Amino acid sequence: MHVDEQLNDPAFFANGAHYALFDRMRVDDPVHWTASPDGRGYWSVFRHADIKTILNDAARFSSEREGVFPVIDDAMAAIAAEAWGVGENVAMIDPPRHTAVRKVISTPFLPKALADGEERTRKLVGEIFDALPAQGEIDLVADLAVRIPMAVICDILALPTSAWDDMLTWGKQAIGGSDPEYQVGSVADTVLHGFRRLQAYAEQHSAARRGCPFSDPLTALANASIDGQPLTQSMITYNAVQIILAGFETTRNAFSGGVLALLENPAQMALLREDPRRLRLAAEEMVRWSDPVISLMRVATCDTELGGKQVRENDRMMLWFPSANRDPEVFERPYEFDVTRHPNLHLGFGAGPHFCLGGPLAKMEIRLAMEELLTRYDGIEITGPVERVQSTFVGGLKHLPVKLKARACAPSVGQTSI
Ligand code: HEM
Repeated sequence: MHVDEQLNDPAFFANGAHYALFDRMRVDDPVHWTASPDGRGYWSVFRHADIKTILNDAARFSSEREGVFPVIDDAMAAIAAEAWGVGENVAMIDPPRHTAVRKVISTPFLPKALADGEERTRKLVGEIFDALPAQGEIDLVADLAVRIPMAVICDILALPTSAWDDMLTWGKQAIGGSDPEYQVGSVADTVLHGFRRLQAYAEQHSAARRGCPFSDPLTALANASIDGQPLTQSMITYNAVQIILAGFETTRNAFSGGVLALLENPAQMALLREDPRRLRLAAEEMVRWSDPVISLMRVATCDTELGGKQVRENDRMMLWFPSANRDPEVFERPYEFDVTRHPNLHLGFGAGPHFCLGGPLAKMEIRLAMEELLTRYDGIEITGPVERVQSTFVGGLKHLPVKLKARACAPSVGQTSI
């Protein structure tokens, strides 16, 4: 298959073959042009340095002109605009307006708030583990990895647990609509189906919070004004959906992908059992290794040059994060999973003005979940086929069947000062 077909094929990304392609492209054609039927085409950017340059330069490379969801033709761009709220969603607004919108929702995700809430988060994570069997088989993705970030983000947004299952289904459709397992029609129908339901849910809950004194981000959005103007309902809804989806669709992939890496590298798991203080660095490596975000887009705002190529105004730029995160110019032994890696300059959370707002929260969730896993079980064994989502956008594991063996006597890792 030709490189341009591979880059557009969600199934190609489900078997890990993209890493070899990216290794080749970083050397042979690091800023690569793909033509598309609508004549617009797009650039693929593979090197860590070039991707970082783009992420840091919002004036030259916009998140707002067509959003950041990777689209390869105008039909997809129209769907993405309706789904994501281009120009209204914090992730798809350029500075300086972006700064004001980000400020409205950022308080619960700042380091001080996270540190204050750590015990509450630990309890939520513990409750998800309590619902698992002490021994026996589980699907580590469905029974654990998806439920932890869901519990945490719903707690932060003060949303009821009763809608978890629906939200998980809508989230899979919205983000993973290219995977046949989640489809309820064409890819476009599936994506819009998921988004419309999430939007209706967010609208219902945010409308009920107008005038309320709570401090969660949903209430903050419902009552916020920027430059003296209250936010429109669509802006509130798009930002609420962004937080909900960003909150659970990526963290689950980092945690489950990281656990798989540990099961495949028992010496690394042993390092964590030996000294759980290593979990902070390990969480970072789990994000680098699992690459939850596969690609994001920017649009050039002017004629410019990148990696020796002439980029024209309005050209679409596809940024391939797994390629940046295995770039040997930045990472020694990029294909070794190393829980002690430091520094770890991965771009898994992005860079620049749109750097992931929830990055510290995601790392805390992964660390707390790993503490529970190490405390409660001393044997975890893969028992069946590991399946990955078919997507060129957000990727990760769909199923990870494992057998758990409970610890005979469980010392509390969580009580040590990690
Ligand atoms: C391992 C888990 C996560 C990964 C890999 C991840 C990845 C990313 C990346 C790459 C971006 C940059 C987007 C861009 O530059 O266009 C981003 C932005 C964002 N993330 Fe995350 N994310 C994770 C978890 C979370 C969580 C838990 C939240 C919770 C609310 C969150 C909320 C956001 C928001 C609101 C933005 C947009 C920030 C802005 O535009 O200023 N993320 N994330």
